[in-house]
Amino acid sequence: NKGIAVFTSGGDAQGMNSAVRAVVRMGIYVGAKVYFIKEGYQGMVDGGDNIVEANWSPVSGIIHKGGTIIGSSRCKEFRERAGRLKAAKNLILKGISNLVVIGGDGSLTGANLFRQDWPELVAELASRGDITPEQPIKFSHLNIVGMVGSIDNDFCGTDMTIGTDSALHRIIEAVDAIAATAYSHQRTFIMEVMGRHCGYLAIVTALTTEADYVFYPENPPPVDWPEKICKKLSQERESGQRLNIIIVSEGAIDREGNPITAEMIREVVVTNLKQDTRITVLGHVQRGGSPSAFDRVLGCRMGAEAVMAVLEATPETEACVVSLDGNQAVRLPLMACVEKTQAVAKAMADKQWELAVQLRGRS
Ligand code: F6P
Repeated sequence: NKGIAVFTSGGDAQGMNSAVRAVVRMGIYVGAKVYFIKEGYQGMVDGGDNIVEANWSPVSGIIHKGGTIIGSSRCKEFRERAGRLKAAKNLILKGISNLVVIGGDGSLTGANLFRQDWPELVAELASRGDITPEQPIKFSHLNIVGMVGSIDNDFCGTDMTIGTDSALHRIIEAVDAIAATAYSHQRTFIMEVMGRHCGYLAIVTALTTEADYVFYPENPPPVDWPEKICKKLSQERESGQRLNIIIVSEGAIDREGNPITAEMIREVVVTNLKQDTRITVLGHVQRGGSPSAFDRVLGCRMGAEAVMAVLEATPETEACVVSLDGNQAVRLPLMACVEKTQAVAKAMADKQWELAVQLRGRS
């Protein structure tokens, strides 16, 4: 009987519940003992009631819910070795040496670190008498399978992260609604979308809502962007358009790496064009609401594949991340994907935007 624990970590994303449900049901179906770890890594560190056995029925009626029913957190303690030591002890005491983590790049990086530290942590626990002398043999290896849950779609190796499609639905619904009122009053709206340092949400929103301009981190505009945007907006108005929509990614920057904010854009438009201009920051509404059909199916497929990966793992198997490649659920080495994702972040910080886009590949 394998003990498998599933947890969600980092920023929540629609579709996480679907993935949790699939892990629980597939796990029970194949005869494993499945556990929930509540509140992400924090629950793993704190232990106690945060680690509970999962059954078939509590995951009924959750597939349509946004957020994550088992809670999530960004846990500082787990980043320290002392936190990971506590987490290791809590897992071993529950008989768990298989983890299914659903989270973004930070959460998956944390999982990989935990796996690397595991033998040392177990040895230390044994030497302190916190676990029995037999347990280091039984729990010599921590098996990790990841799934990428994040609205940002910023993880290397997968076409789509769980939650991105739903967030896009939420965003374009909001832009369409804003466009209606903008039309009535002949206004310009600047809409800020999430995505951290990734422009995927901004670009797809701009494409699918016929926005007039988009600012996103991977393609900082030239220094004369104020003239360029004013020219573009004026042209649209001269051709009979009654409104303008500008999408700005929360991580948008100029070529020096300085932020370009919605307020800066508004200033440019109002000063030069005297247009009645408003800002809408969509914020966490993008992460809420029910998941799209795509994210529900994605969660189901990823969750089921994750359990299969756990079952087939041996001590020699590398930690993997379940990804979407075309229309296929595939398993990729977690470490390589994390490293590539970190290389993208470095390229962005070094202002090597083309390299960042190239490295990110299909995501
Ligand atoms: O990673 C998901 C995300 O929603 C980002 O788009 C955003 O920058 C961040 O999380 C917001 O984090 P928090 O919910 O902690 O404010």
